[in-house]
Amino acid sequence: MKGNIAIIGAQWGDEGKGKIVDFLTNKDTNYVVRYQGGHNAGHTLVVNEKKIVLHVLPSGILHDNVTAVIANGVVLSPVHFINEIEMLQKHNYDVRNRIIISQSCHLIFCYHIAMDIARENQYGKYSIGTTKCGIGPAYEDKIARRGLRVGDLRDWDFFSRRLEDNVNYYNHQLINFYHVSGVNYKSIINEMILIKDVLIKISDDTSKILEDAKYNNKLIIFEGAQGTLLDIDHGIYPYVTSSNSVSGGICTGCGIGPSNITNVLGVFKSYSTRVGSGPFPTEVFGDLDAYFCNKGNEFGSTTGRRRRTGWLDTVLLKKSVQLNSFSKLCLTKLDVLDDLEDIKICIGYRYNNSDFKYDRIPFCHKDWKMIEPVYETLHGWQENTVGITNFNDLPVLAKKFIFRIEKILGVFINIISTGPNRNDTIIRSI
Ligand code: GDP
Ligand code: IMO
Ligand code: MG
Repeated sequence: MKGNIAIIGAQWGDEGKGKIVDFLTNKDTNYVVRYQGGHNAGHTLVVNEKKIVLHVLPSGILHDNVTAVIANGVVLSPVHFINEIEMLQKHNYDVRNRIIISQSCHLIFCYHIAMDIARENQYGKYSIGTTKCGIGPAYEDKIARRGLRVGDLRDWDFFSRRLEDNVNYYNHQLINFYHVSGVNYKSIINEMILIKDVLIKISDDTSKILEDAKYNNKLIIFEGAQGTLLDIDHGIYPYVTSSNSVSGGICTGCGIGPSNITNVLGVFKSYSTRVGSGPFPTEVFGDLDAYFCNKGNEFGSTTGRRRRTGWLDTVLLKKSVQLNSFSKLCLTKLDVLDDLEDIKICIGYRYNNSDFKYDRIPFCHKDWKMIEPVYETLHGWQENTVGITNFNDLPVLAKKFIFRIEKILGVFINIISTGPNRNDTIIRSI
């Protein structure tokens, strides 16, 4: 693939983006960049039988020729960040000198997490089902212009004063409105005293660094976190995350223009999953759900929650193609369908029991409840595809499934993943 690559989740997250970012990162890659979200993400890499889950560091970081960039659009928990570096060190990956953080990156503190938890608990059965990482409150502070950024650590008087104001602001709500314990200013400050020099040392103007990369012919991989259907503007609101996970988020989240993005690769799995609450038209239950869950190991990489499962939904995927301008696609977890006799693909919705099939996405809650998926059923191949690396070695019916999705979406499927390992991957063309 020539030029910079954006790798974006086309569904509700957990499509296998991390594996594909790691797979596509090679000796020619100079930067891998996270540009939105925070440690709510969980990206699983399996290399040489070893499993590593990354939350805030970009997945290409295991390749030692690469510099990892955490750009301005990310919300960063300093404590979590340091823990993740230490986790990698235990796996013999020394990444400390290969990370640059944007000085404009907003910080997540324990009061954001306390607020996230307090709200979710208060909403009860109407909760969003967040990861409770403090993501929403941290982005709220950014938009409300009271957030603290990595670069603010250079002005310790300002930083500590504003931190104290924010602790008071949050404690007032936590204690008086949510009736839970507040947080302790002194312990946050003491924690930050220990971490601040590390963060200051590796912080920089990442927008300039990424812009310069263009003139120096350096190659960049932009790693999306979450998925398109969780985008704050274009996802199924309010059951979304608090950042722009669509490809457009790269420009604002990195401080670069669209011409810096050459290829936009959409990653989707051969069925659907989502964690947390919200509409899921093709959701399945019972034995089939148990099948997807067990065969696909569908447990959240961040919270360990069991993911909800369902059939592939091409109505939502088509929207995803449009929202992101996908020029290429990657289909993951083909092998998870191996044992099924029949495979369904949702090709439209039927509204309120009418005969009329349409492919528009509902807006109101009321409408989500009125739709019913219309399926096309294909014969399953019922053969083992795990670890296949050559397209021609796939069963005929598996190829048929792939061609059918391509036809519906109008985009070529360039990469197919046939297992969790880095090498369980078919490249048709890139
Ligand atoms: P991400 O958030 O998009 O990076 O995805 P996650 O890592 O949260 O979830 C994807 C899960 O599927 C992980 O457990 C991966 O190891 C696994 N995985 C990725 N690709 C494949 C594949 O092609 N087949 C199978 N069976 N598992 C896969
Ligand atoms: P990756 O990058 C799947 C979901 C949460 C919840 C909603 C809001 O691994 O694909 P938040 O904590 O962000 O405020 O929660 O978004 N969510 C994810 N679901 N994969 C993720 O990341 C997710 N990050 C957030 O479950 O429904
Ligand atoms: Mg994940």
